[in-house]
Amino acid sequence: MQVAPSILSADFGRLNEEIKAICDGGCDLVHVDVMDGHFVPNLTIGPVVVNAVAKISTKPLDIHLMVENNTFFVELFAPLKPKYISFHIEEEKHPHRLIQKIRSYGISPALVLNPHTPPQSIEYLLEDVDMVLLMSVNPGFGGQKFIPSVIEKAKILKKLINEKNPNCLIEVDGGVGSSNIHLLKEAGVDVVVAGNYVFTNDSYKDAIKSLQI
Ligand code: DX5
Ligand code: ZN
Repeated sequence: MQVAPSILSADFGRLNEEIKAICDGGCDLVHVDVMDGHFVPNLTIGPVVVNAVAKISTKPLDIHLMVENNTFFVELFAPLKPKYISFHIEEEKHPHRLIQKIRSYGISPALVLNPHTPPQSIEYLLEDVDMVLLMSVNPGFGGQKFIPSVIEKAKILKKLINEKNPNCLIEVDGGVGSSNIHLLKEAGVDVVVAGNYVFTNDSYKDAIKSLQI
């Protein structure tokens, strides 16, 4: 299981040290939550701060867009060369076109599904993406309670992925910790995002290791 700590739960006054600590702690990716105050009722960081994060991080960035104008934000963040840019299917009229655009920058495209969005809705896009992110909380905030129905959803998605594109990864984001990591693994999940669980632990390294099962 790959682990992508979400820096939304980091101490932004000490962002440099926080990024170094998760990278030295052995994380696989650094998860960056970009919120615009429109798609979700919260506002986070833009390219100035993410550029600073990219310079400090020794691990690839996983940028999760929670915004209304996806194309604008893809163009804004593409120069920072993240490994992944993921966008919400609920907010995109032309997902196939945007996937090709992300790939044209040499970045892996990923789709995000809110808790209510069925995996079947992206069946005909699966062969074009490298990862699908299933939200296990309502997007907008760290530290929320895990929504258990994501486990069944991951299993259904895994079947579709096996048929359409076995190389596509499944990522789960929200409320992940030691209490649900084994269920997620069993369901076929490849990558977990963890904010609160990692950043409230005395040892980020121990927290990360405990999820890398
Ligand atoms: C929520 C974000 C998540 C969040 C995860 O909208 O997408 O990445 O920060 O934080 P935890 O692990 O605390 O739920
Ligand atoms: Zn996220």
